[in-house]
Amino acid sequence: MSLVGPKSQTLQKRAEKVLPLGVNSNFRYWGEGITPYVNKAKGAYLWDVDDRRFIDYRMAFGPIILGHAYDEVDQKVIEEVKNGVLFAMTSELEVTVAEMIAEMAPAVEMVRLACSGTEATMHAIRVARAYTGRDIILKFEGNYHGMHDHALWSTYAPTESYGNHRSPIPVPASSGIPKSMREFIITLPFNDAEGFERVMKSYGEQIAAVITEPCQGNCGAIDPQPGFLELIRKKTEEYGIVFILDEVKTGFRIANGGAQEYYRIKPDLATYAKALGNGYPVAAFGGKSEIMSIIGHGVAQGGTYTNNKPGVAAAYATLKLLKEKPIIATIQKRGKRLMDGLKDIFEDNGIPVAMSGTGAMFSFALGVDSVTCQRDWAKSDHQMYMDLASKAIERGIMPDYDAREPWFLCYEHSDADIDETLNVYAEIVKEVKH
Ligand SMILES: Cc1ncc(COP(=O)(O)O)c(C=O)c1O
Repeated sequence: MSLVGPKSQTLQKRAEKVLPLGVNSNFRYWGEGITPYVNKAKGAYLWDVDDRRFIDYRMAFGPIILGHAYDEVDQKVIEEVKNGVLFAMTSELEVTVAEMIAEMAPAVEMVRLACSGTEATMHAIRVARAYTGRDIILKFEGNYHGMHDHALWSTYAPTESYGNHRSPIPVPASSGIPKSMREFIITLPFNDAEGFERVMKSYGEQIAAVITEPCQGNCGAIDPQPGFLELIRKKTEEYGIVFILDEVKTGFRIANGGAQEYYRIKPDLATYAKALGNGYPVAAFGGKSEIMSIIGHGVAQGGTYTNNKPGVAAAYATLKLLKEKPIIATIQKRGKRLMDGLKDIFEDNGIPVAMSGTGAMFSFALGVDSVTCQRDWAKSDHQMYMDLASKAIERGIMPDYDAREPWFLCYEHSDADIDETLNVYAEIVKEVKH
């Protein structure tokens, strides 16, 4: 088996004529002749267009928390869409979903629904700016908050372009972002407590929001160092800054109450998407009533599809299941076994490894002992990671090809899937080492 089969390669050539790079999101392009095309997925498995089956650890970049095509979610969606999908009016179900989010997420008192993580963070930033009357946003290198111009800075650039860590240079992640937006962004390495205090002293009173992923879900699931999130909470309070916790990847995944529950941290606003709807298009942002209630009072927020029925119905069914069953505890337990097993395999083969994240969403950086920010992560052995990922994919195990993207587990990953994955890695680590 090779990385992709002949049907993927043919479809890529066809797709490239009508879709830039042959895909509908740049992140789905792995390269010429090696970009996979999918046929279907069920539970923890995914089949590509060549009908090869994989144990899927990408989980669509995190949304699939229960399993692909999860019957109870799909049935609720089908039941609801029979009565119409869009009304430009509010339905009872979306009120219930808002109540469920507020009940599960410790820091959320009021919420607005949206369709994507990009939309959720964009609105949260607007609200933070409106609430504080300030313009500047502070974000951390390696964190990704969606495609809008406000925070698409220092996400994936080579870290050499970031300048000295004491005075980082914000690097736009795309052409087309107005140069003038540079005025409104400050970047810092993640976990840089000293730098954070320095920036607060110099610019604290001009900053509208500090936005961060709780652990770096877009750069190797790097964990927050003890005290780092707490420092952000303390300083943002001191300077009247809105603390936005971007829980698009961690929300309803690492705990029922997301990172707020897991790390015991209460931001002012939080953003959600992904696991909220087990793959259906639904997102949310919310937080303190005092801040959220400025929406509609001179602060714009809305969207034709923000209460689309499939998304709302999926969120209802997903949250209901998360509340009723020990789903996340089960995922965390199995994921931890996978993390520990992988760590042992690397160590037994004399390969230094830094594991990060939690069982539901984790990563490993090879050739290094610890990683606290993207600048550290950049020094890890990406080639070895990719060589292993290629060999794993050839043997029916699918992590993302890109080392920055965490491994995601769902409720349907079984102990047998974990065993199979560990057996494959035990074999391929030996091959790659030689
Ligand atoms: C932490 C985080 N925020 C925001 C986004 C953007 O979400 P979406 O792709 O739904 O627009 C992502 C997407 O991966 C994300 O990981």
